[in-house]
Amino acid sequence: MVISAARVRSLGTLTVLSLGLLACGGDDSSSAATAGSTGTTTMTSDTEATSGTDSETGEALAPTWYQEVAPLIAAKCDGCHIDGGIAPFSLTTYEAAKGWAPLLADTVEAGTMPPFLADDTDECQPRFGWKDDLRLSDEEQALIRAWADAGAPEGDPSAAAPLPEPPKIGLDDADERLTIPSGVTIDGKEDRFICFSVDPGNGVLDQWISAFQINAGNSKIVHHVLVYIDEDAASVDVADENGQFDCFGDAGVDGNVSLMGAWAPGMAAFRAPDDVAYRVPAGARLIFNMHYHPTGSGPEVDDSTSIDLKYFEGLPNYVGILSFAGNDSKARADGTGLQPGPNDDGGEPVFKIPAGVADHEESMVVKIGEDFPDVRIFAAGSHMHYVGTDLRVRIKRANPKPDEPAEECLVHTPTWDFSWQRVYQYDAGLDEVPVARAGDEILVDCKYDNSLGNPFVMRALAEQGLDAPVDVYLGEETLDEMCLGIFGIAVKLSDVL
Ligand code: HEC
Repeated sequence: MVISAARVRSLGTLTVLSLGLLACGGDDSSSAATAGSTGTTTMTSDTEATSGTDSETGEALAPTWYQEVAPLIAAKCDGCHIDGGIAPFSLTTYEAAKGWAPLLADTVEAGTMPPFLADDTDECQPRFGWKDDLRLSDEEQALIRAWADAGAPEGDPSAAAPLPEPPKIGLDDADERLTIPSGVTIDGKEDRFICFSVDPGNGVLDQWISAFQINAGNSKIVHHVLVYIDEDAASVDVADENGQFDCFGDAGVDGNVSLMGAWAPGMAAFRAPDDVAYRVPAGARLIFNMHYHPTGSGPEVDDSTSIDLKYFEGLPNYVGILSFAGNDSKARADGTGLQPGPNDDGGEPVFKIPAGVADHEESMVVKIGEDFPDVRIFAAGSHMHYVGTDLRVRIKRANPKPDEPAEECLVHTPTWDFSWQRVYQYDAGLDEVPVARAGDEILVDCKYDNSLGNPFVMRALAEQGLDAPVDVYLGEETLDEMCLGIFGIAVKLSDVL
């Protein structure tokens, strides 16, 4: 069976520089999300029960570690802030956490921790919440601030509030595990990006995958994993005898490559909505794009990063596809494509982020082609490189149905961070999620800070041996930029056969 899914991957007429990009990875709603809400509930009820007011002075009592703070930290931070975890310090005990209190309050208020970039803002209120939402509510942020301001009181260990169950990360019903073919040693100071070509062993038959879990082999150094479906097995030709090759933000090979999913520490399994499955065509390979972050204290080996796969029985009614919109470098006569913006020098719109400019914007409009099938958008995310700071994706409908907004925001990542890219999965059923149809427009708005005030620019320049910002254009290299909305979409199998 041949599916022209490649057609569906780019929504409309846009140019996709590299289908290899990024992302996915909504998770299993029953795991981290449950732990998160358990933590929240515990926290709230305990706040009422134990904080209250001082009976003599009438002053509000500060929250304490054992009564209010520990359950919240366990639910929202312990996926990474544990001994041997990816984060640089543990937050699992009072002794370990207390010295960090002011910084914890700062980072949760700034929204930089936990790393969950999708946010509800004045400019964007998606219709649904997200599965496995790590964000802290305003009350939870205020609780950490109040604890820090009070000098991080310990509270009473003998009356400690129960901690939520740790998130259930694994895919307990997996059918198969595929592991990287060789080991790699990570040392020194620089991050490294290495791709592995992995044989899924489906020489003659298509595989349909309904769920997967990416497992970091050595969690001290595995910062991020992207898994691509390499339909033409192009990675076989570029990989060395260990199945490895160099790559940066994408799959590192040309041809028919599509992203299947992304993983960052703490993420649970990805489960496609019911009746949706991803296709790995017969003869394809998987490419693991590994982002390694050295510990700074000696060499570490990773030889066991893997993916667990759950196969779909039979054929699904919907094909799951990671799709992209944006990265447009030209304005079109019909008003779509690259939009006029600041720093265009008066002429045609150009995608150029001038050196030193701290508040540059690029916007694109992508019209979904007339022969396009209806797509259900069950997940959304964004992709930029190091200069990008903010990305928002909206849809404007040509002919909205009675119960549909004419325009809605799909996702906003107002504090973009290249290290934490993923696609966020709506906490809603396939029959509820936003639908995009032929004639609808996808609007992608990107903001950039190409000045030394942007710490990611500083770091990227340093890695390239440069000491001042350079003009940045659309492209695939570290110091190029992108402006891309990413979508987990489901298309009727009968529409793409
Ligand atoms: C998904 C993994 C993950 C989760 C969940 C997480 N962190 Fe982090 N945290 C990290 C990593 C990794 C770093 C190191 C800096 C970096 O790479 O961004 C870090 C760094 C920090 C820092 C130091 C920041 C700085 O500017 O140096 C603080 C403070 C922090 N985290 C607090 C928290 C708190 C509080 C939570 C929970 C409410 C949390 N983190 C949840 C991974 C995580």
